[in-house]
Amino acid sequence: MKEIGFKGRLAVITGAASGMGLYATKEFVRLGAKVIMCDVNAEALAGAAALIGPEAIPVAGDVRKYSYAEEVARVARENGGADYLIPFAGGFEARVCKSNVPFYEQPIEVIDWGIDVNLKGAVYFSRALMPQMVAKKYGVIVLVGSVTGFEGDGIGAMYGTAKSGLFNFVKGLAIAGAPHGVRAVCVTPGPVLTRPGMAGMPTLLGRAAELPELVDVILFMCSDNASFITGSNHVVDGGRLCMYQPVQPLKQQ
Ligand SMILES: NC(=O)c1ccc[n+]([C@@H]2O[C@H](COP(=O)([O-])OP(=O)(O)OC[C@H]3O[C@@H](n4cnc5c(N)ncnc54)[C@H](O)[C@@H]3O)[C@@H](O)[C@H]2O)c1
Repeated sequence: MKEIGFKGRLAVITGAASGMGLYATKEFVRLGAKVIMCDVNAEALAGAAALIGPEAIPVAGDVRKYSYAEEVARVARENGGADYLIPFAGGFEARVCKSNVPFYEQPIEVIDWGIDVNLKGAVYFSRALMPQMVAKKYGVIVLVGSVTGFEGDGIGAMYGTAKSGLFNFVKGLAIAGAPHGVRAVCVTPGPVLTRPGMAGMPTLLGRAAELPELVDVILFMCSDNASFITGSNHVVDGGRLCMYQPVQPLKQQ
């Protein structure tokens, strides 16, 4: 296997102020890349970027706005053009919007959040940044799915709907990118320990993933070791989807 390194490369990472996006940013910088860090939490983003150093360039904004994706694309152009895009920004709308009610009672703002951040955010950033990759004849987009995209959820119904949308979107990106040397891959996690609540989710291995167990796969997908991988969805879930899971009745708190 070739040694993984990203010297001279530029990565754009959304959801970079916390969790896997922040960890991936640190790893890309450690491996030689510059990273444009994108997140709606401007304060956390600025703090994280300052700790990482000058190779981390924070640009705060809301991925639901296409004008933000265009602004990030402009900054990417000034830095030589994007080589990698990983749109991590996302989340389970019922948790993020603190609205733990069944789908049929969800306020429309919560439904919009679930679709717009998880699906449209990835679409907007891909649309804005892919031309730079096409021009370079090089680039990799790694979408971040979720096992909920296979399972569904009666409370956060848009989360799984949006994530399963990414399973198809990756194919469109791969087909569009292949003639231009641009690959697209979806990596689909089971539970990851970005917050303590994930520890209790069932997997065949009896635990949730540590952050490197997901981010290392994403780094591999960006590397030239994965040069024949495009258009496919890669589940990294500790065997969760192998398990028989009867649908649970809705649990309202
Ligand atoms: N943690 C898990 O167990 C798990 C499992 C499956 C999939 N995923 C997916 O992985 C990705 C990262 O998960 P995580 O647990 O590291 O997340 P996290 O909650 O730690 O980080 C998400 C980041 O996205 C940012 N964000 C939210 N809305 C935004 C917006 N509108 N514009 C810009 N930024 C916004 C947040 O501020 C936050 O910093 C998500 O897409 C998530 O759905 C996570």
